[in-house]
Amino acid sequence: MNYPEFLRTAMVAAHREAGKGHVADYIPALAGAVPDAFGMALATVDGELHGVGNWKEPFSIQSISKLFSLALVLAEGGNALWTRVGREPSGTPFNSLVQLEAERGIPRNPFINAGAVVVTDRLQTLTGDASRSVLGFLRAESGNPGISIDPAVAASEAAHGHRNAALAHFIASHGNLDNTVAVVLEEYFAHCSISASCGDLALAGRFLASHGVRADGTRMLSSTEAKRVNAVLLTCGTYDAAGEFAYRVGLPAKSGVGGGVLAILPGRAALCAWSPALDRAGNSVGAVAAIEAFTTATGLSIF
Ligand code: DON
Repeated sequence: MNYPEFLRTAMVAAHREAGKGHVADYIPALAGAVPDAFGMALATVDGELHGVGNWKEPFSIQSISKLFSLALVLAEGGNALWTRVGREPSGTPFNSLVQLEAERGIPRNPFINAGAVVVTDRLQTLTGDASRSVLGFLRAESGNPGISIDPAVAASEAAHGHRNAALAHFIASHGNLDNTVAVVLEEYFAHCSISASCGDLALAGRFLASHGVRADGTRMLSSTEAKRVNAVLLTCGTYDAAGEFAYRVGLPAKSGVGGGVLAILPGRAALCAWSPALDRAGNSVGAVAAIEAFTTATGLSIF
């Protein structure tokens, strides 16, 4: 398949849409991003890597980190996590508090903020350093030791993280945190504040296209676990827009408010697009348009 040509097609589609939404400003350190900046990269299971636009430029990965923290917990700790967090789409915004009270501190899924806080807690217990283990995984899979946590973004998240603090305290009040709220939030903000490029993320997400096998050939997840992570990505990875995303794109994916979207073509490749302006659900307008154009032009999707 002529991937470079299809990536250029996707970039043209993205340029028509990019910049139409709004850059996330509830984390002030993200507010200065250029709304219509764009990049896209594809990493195949056979080792090809292609990119267009600013595909080597690092950006704040934000909630895309939740995919990696979940995979690391499942790899280290098995299925025990699923007694503490559900697997159903929420239908509510990613930072919503409402379901948590009705559902007694068990978050609906691992990708909304409440669920990711529980995953981070579990990863902290399993590894002693949740954010470093996410960082180490990204560096290893991408081969890029320059990937790092942006301390200004982490500090900005902490200073304005009242909703996440509320979620974490509420979860703790139901006995669903093992570590202190302070430690869990610090680790959660740190892994959300990792800066990485489309190329880095496509390489780091490739284990989900390879049915759970890492870049060095070692198995991280069983193929069944990789299938399950992809299923939760499809149903929950783009929050209350997951239905619309599945309809338009037809791939499992995880978005972040830094404007990145990492999508998986099982058995074939991982694809990451980035453009900072977001729609109302918090998904990048340009990145979703690009990935939609790619799957439409290539005919590659899970459906
Ligand atoms: O906790 C937050 O709100 C951010 N660190 C991450 C949110 C996010 O990326 C949601 N994605 N669309």
